[in-house]
Amino acid sequence: MAIDAREIVRRCRALAAYSEQAGNTTRTFLCEPMRGVHADVSTWMREAGMATQVDAAGNVRGVYAGTEHDDANGEPRLFIGSHLDTVPRAGAFDGVLGVMLAVALVESLDGHRFPFSIEVIGFSEEEGVRFGVPFIGSRALVGLVDDELLSRIDSTGASVADAIRQFGLDPGALASARTTDRAIGYFEFHIEQGPVLARLGLALGIVNAIAGQTRADVTFTGTSGHAGTTPMAARADAIACAAEWILAVEGDAKATPGLVATVGRIDATPGAGNVIAGQCVTSLDVRHVDDAVRAEAIDRLQTAAHEIVMRRGLDVTWRTRLDQAAVAMDSRLVDALTRAVARSGAPVLQMPSGAGHDAMILAAHMPAAMLFVRSPGGISHHPDESVLEPDVAAALAAGREFLNELAHGSVGPRRATSDV
Ligand code: GLV
Ligand code: MN
Ligand code: MN
Repeated sequence: MAIDAREIVRRCRALAAYSEQAGNTTRTFLCEPMRGVHADVSTWMREAGMATQVDAAGNVRGVYAGTEHDDANGEPRLFIGSHLDTVPRAGAFDGVLGVMLAVALVESLDGHRFPFSIEVIGFSEEEGVRFGVPFIGSRALVGLVDDELLSRIDSTGASVADAIRQFGLDPGALASARTTDRAIGYFEFHIEQGPVLARLGLALGIVNAIAGQTRADVTFTGTSGHAGTTPMAARADAIACAAEWILAVEGDAKATPGLVATVGRIDATPGAGNVIAGQCVTSLDVRHVDDAVRAEAIDRLQTAAHEIVMRRGLDVTWRTRLDQAAVAMDSRLVDALTRAVARSGAPVLQMPSGAGHDAMILAAHMPAAMLFVRSPGGISHHPDESVLEPDVAAALAAGREFLNELAHGSVGPRRATSDV
């Protein structure tokens, strides 16, 4: 049975019901509700003709065999994936739409085989919510989950390795999650998560590059004290200090073309209305398509933090959690995808991605390409995130043409490596 756009959207909305919190969709790395997602996605993969497994990093993987097998070199393979975790209070489509489109694409082949196998992957973690570092699922695919990553802890004190064990998987088996197949490439469908396509009235966008990002925890430490008795001139208020810096972050990004900078979380202690905060931990997320511009911005924001704490008599510490360079998509795959979109009858637009994606990790190891689907209103990381069924149908049609391009075109396989 072919899966149409309506069914793809229905599946995305059905998966949104698996949540750590009643009343919204929140699904972090290997949380209990992820079991239901694994069960449904695995069932749909099998119905589409794929052999399934859940690897040691919690990625759901389905293989649709090709017509060729080369015992010496392994099988040429196209990976198509996206992620199954979400931000807190998420919508139904960030990540999940890409996996559902990939399953539907394989189902639409109706048994037709290509000279390469197709592996659909629902990555276990892309958002970086639970452990403050993103891309755990795609890192595992290319052998980049190391001891440092495994020992990172969440807010309950559980490590990544603990989370894997608690889910019933074996962190000692992570090496087996790594692909050794000859990779033709990695392809990801994803909602745009921004307003560009909606403003242009276009259904699809071909991603040519993904912005680099820095994430850090910036901690302001002052002195807690009595809100009623401590004179204003005698305070070292960590929240007020952080607030001044947060406005400096916003001002810097507004003044720097293309730069986006966000403080999305502040944790103040002791956290009572009648106590001056002694400590304030803030998250920082800074992105730009040009890594040099991002690095200069980080320098300025560090200088600003030091200047503000000096003036106010506090301390600041800076812990970088992620420094991910901008990534170009593979030019040959971008060309093939551009031809595919044109052949499917949709207008062609190439654009950079401001959001991070698993394709960033995989692009260092195999050719990677992404196709964006319009986000109505540009809304994402929000419960109102949506897609239009005709756009989903257009993405599926472009995906079919892309497979044909790969089957008949000049884009050959390359062994996945982890040393690039
Ligand atoms: C992932 O959604 C990101 O933060 O870009
Ligand atoms: Mn995403
Ligand atoms: Mn996201």
